[in-house]
Amino acid sequence: MTAALDPDADLLRQAQGLFAGERDPWANAANAAALLFGGLPDLNWAGFYFLRGGQLVVGPFQGRVACVRIALGAGVCGTAAVRRATLIVPDVHAFPGHITCDAASNSEIVVPIEADGRLVGVLDLDSPSFGRFGPQDAALLEGFAGRLAAACDWRLAGIDGF
Ligand code: SME
Repeated sequence: MTAALDPDADLLRQAQGLFAGERDPWANAANAAALLFGGLPDLNWAGFYFLRGGQLVVGPFQGRVACVRIALGAGVCGTAAVRRATLIVPDVHAFPGHITCDAASNSEIVVPIEADGRLVGVLDLDSPSFGRFGPQDAALLEGFAGRLAAACDWRLAGIDGF
């Protein structure tokens, strides 16, 4: 497959285009959530939690209404945030402490977002299918999160540490 036909490369290119010339984290995160939710198959939630006041607070997303605040270390999101590592959960019902937002979710991936070496939040994707996410998704979403982190001026967003 050539790079031009690689859907992952295409998604990253679209992200670069969306973020170009825009430094506002909320604007870029909102478009990022829409791009991922529309561009990746078999999702029921795609969006962000940002570190504000020592907690993860829901940011722009696509999908059903979600829980607003997640403590660091809690759930899949809080665990990925504390570990500062991507977490792939093939069956959310088997993950101790998983926080259910949409009962349709069966698998999940959470990718930390870091800017200037500091955690700003996490990118969270849910799927109604078990085992939906694998290493290729992790690589794509880590690339995506890195581009978002670099594109934004985090001082504009009330994110802890900025
Ligand atoms: N399941 C997540 C909570 C966020 S929702 O999936 C949107 C968790 O356990 O952290």
